[in-house]
Amino acid sequence: MNGTVTVPGDKSISHRAVMMGSIAEGETLIKNFLTGEDCLSTMKCFMELGVTFDGPSDGNLKVYGRGLHGLKEPGKVLDAGNSGTTMRLITGILSGQNFFSVITGDRSLTSRPMGRVITPLTKMGAQIAGRKGNTMAPLGIRGGDLQAIEYISPVASAQVKSCVILAGLYAGGVTSVTEPFKSRDHTERMLKHFGCDIEVRGNTVSVKGGSLLRGSEITVPGDISSAAFLMVAAAIVPGSDITIRDVGLNPTRDGIISALTGMGAQIELLNSRILSGEPVSDIRVKSSGLKGTIIEGDLVPRMIDEIPVLAVAASVAQGQTVVRDAAELKVKESNRISAIVEELKKFGVDIEELPDGFIVKPGNMLKGAEVDTRMDHRIAMAMTVAGMVSEGKTQIKDTRCVNISFPGFYDVLKILGKE
Ligand code: S3P
Repeated sequence: MNGTVTVPGDKSISHRAVMMGSIAEGETLIKNFLTGEDCLSTMKCFMELGVTFDGPSDGNLKVYGRGLHGLKEPGKVLDAGNSGTTMRLITGILSGQNFFSVITGDRSLTSRPMGRVITPLTKMGAQIAGRKGNTMAPLGIRGGDLQAIEYISPVASAQVKSCVILAGLYAGGVTSVTEPFKSRDHTERMLKHFGCDIEVRGNTVSVKGGSLLRGSEITVPGDISSAAFLMVAAAIVPGSDITIRDVGLNPTRDGIISALTGMGAQIELLNSRILSGEPVSDIRVKSSGLKGTIIEGDLVPRMIDEIPVLAVAASVAQGQTVVRDAAELKVKESNRISAIVEELKKFGVDIEELPDGFIVKPGNMLKGAEVDTRMDHRIAMAMTVAGMVSEGKTQIKDTRCVNISFPGFYDVLKILGKE
């Protein structure tokens, strides 16, 4: 793999830019907006809530903000599609609205845990009902008149933190969230960028109810979670030298760089700068031999979405790799622990499942396999990278799901393969 490419805009940041633009005063211009299906789901939900948009065209999306209290009761059920971020963050905003709304999603999303946001939102005074004893979508939400809370979250989850902070904008008093490890902080950075009154101390974030957001311009950096597939591919396909330009390198998201560097990958960060409050760099990766590693503790939330592709790097490394403290992987778009273990076994990898991770043992040359993606975009892309370093043909069923986060993934691979 050789050449210089860019990856699509960051998914987490694109979602938040639409959400904050929608409840801000005035217009917001989002540049390099990710037109992946998840972010389009967020946009469609806000259209149902009365927000108008221009675009997306040529990567630009204009949002005509309606202010904190300008959303309208939706006439139909909101559809978050496959996107946990859409459902959990919008539920926080809907909890502050004086109207009734219902939000649902696809088969994967309606079996993911929503109790983690319903619990704090109910404490704040929202009335939320859901399936399975109020733990799963569809969710019915009657919002309004929230009280501030000091919430100690049992999980390091940016979706839980962001949901409570967004609801806190509608509560009387100061709402705070404390998490066990620091999860991605795009909500905090973007609220500041929109001029909002928000404070961060250690693992605690606080926001004052009623703080207004001012429409803004945001340039979305490339998504490090998408870049990660190319980084691992370049690290393990012999003779590779690639550069990925303009990638977001927020310190709460850069665990994959630390992990791969620790495994002996040759990675250089170039042209580092700040774009719309987020650190950005160009990333150069050259192939090299890798060794095994341990992924645990606070490194896990810093690379939670990159663990499927890290497992592929571990499969060709010398020495054992252990991933633990990663039970959250079980409640992603699929159960990613069993997906990683079952699919990599098909490639001949010696991998053992743990309750909160897995162990990859070295030794076996990968052989091509027939992969079941489980309609999970990150499993599809990680197993594509496994196929690139396998002997023989790999067949991946249902690759359409890559459009959730990385439209054009296979085109980018072809470009890097040709140069
Ligand atoms: C995200 C947070 C993470 C991550 C997801 C996007 C976000 O989920 O896995 O892909 O944009 O806030 P959790 O909050 O469940 O850890």
